[in-house]
Amino acid sequence: MKKNYLFYTACLILLAGLALAFASPGSQGGRVTPPVPAPETQEEAMKAFDKMMAVLTHKRCVNCHPAGDRPRQGEDSHYHNFGVRRGEDGHGLPALQCATCHRQENNNYSGVPGAPEWHLAPLKMQWEGLSRVEIARSILDPARNGGRTLEETVHHLTEHELVLWAWEPGVDANGVPREKPPVPKEEYIKAVKEWAAAGAPVPEE
Ligand code: HEC
Ligand code: HEC
Repeated sequence: MKKNYLFYTACLILLAGLALAFASPGSQGGRVTPPVPAPETQEEAMKAFDKMMAVLTHKRCVNCHPAGDRPRQGEDSHYHNFGVRRGEDGHGLPALQCATCHRQENNNYSGVPGAPEWHLAPLKMQWEGLSRVEIARSILDPARNGGRTLEETVHHLTEHELVLWAWEPGVDANGVPREKPPVPKEEYIKAVKEWAAAGAPVPEE
């Protein structure tokens, strides 16, 4: 009888501990990320916006979010070599798929960049030629952003492998390191979260 009692008490304590561990805010897959507080002033929110957009307008992103059917390459954003086209689903023409050359990781011998699911952003997500304000409106517009909520967009912006590749862009076909976005990764991630916490304000221009 006494043994049973002890056993049940032990189980209860264990369960309570588990419940606490899972209920703690911001705990994801065992990794605890403290929530980013909203900036206190409009000025700070705009600073976060500036940082975020310095990244989104960078060629590491825009080369893969082009207008038209061809990806762009390099620091001068020239058209992709070998006549590569987006094809029906952004994965290339049947005879020349992105995955023929682009793998899960950068190949720093051949200079082919790589990350999981490497393919071209759909046309409605084209950012080439848009101002930073227009890009911001686009990522907030469910008709153009793939039907994402703000939370889902923040998730994509801060965790997606094709986005994070920009900070590990490898070297080009001549062995020259590709330029990284002008804001360090952690600072960018913080800026995106602050901007969202401030209600995702977009300036007039
Ligand atoms: C290799 C190509 C590639 C690169 C590089 C790339 N993207 Fe994308 N991006 C895509 C594809 C493909 C999608 C569509 C994925 C989907 O909807 O599931 C996409 C979708 C998105 C979306 C969600 C849709 C939207 O318009 O809101 C955001 C946000 C985004 N990308 C941000 C970025 C940022 C920021 C960078 C640079 C730091 C970047 N991407 C670099 C291919 C790329
Ligand atoms: C025949 C091989 C091949 C195919 C097929 C191919 N690529 Fe590439 N891609 C390359 C090589 C090589 C580079 C690097 C060129 C350099 O930087 O010197 C590259 C670079 C890129 C870049 C430039 C990254 C940057 O910011 O500079 C993007 C974007 C890109 N490819 C997208 C695509 C997409 C999307 C597809 C499919 C629709 C595709 N590629 C198909 C070989 C290929």
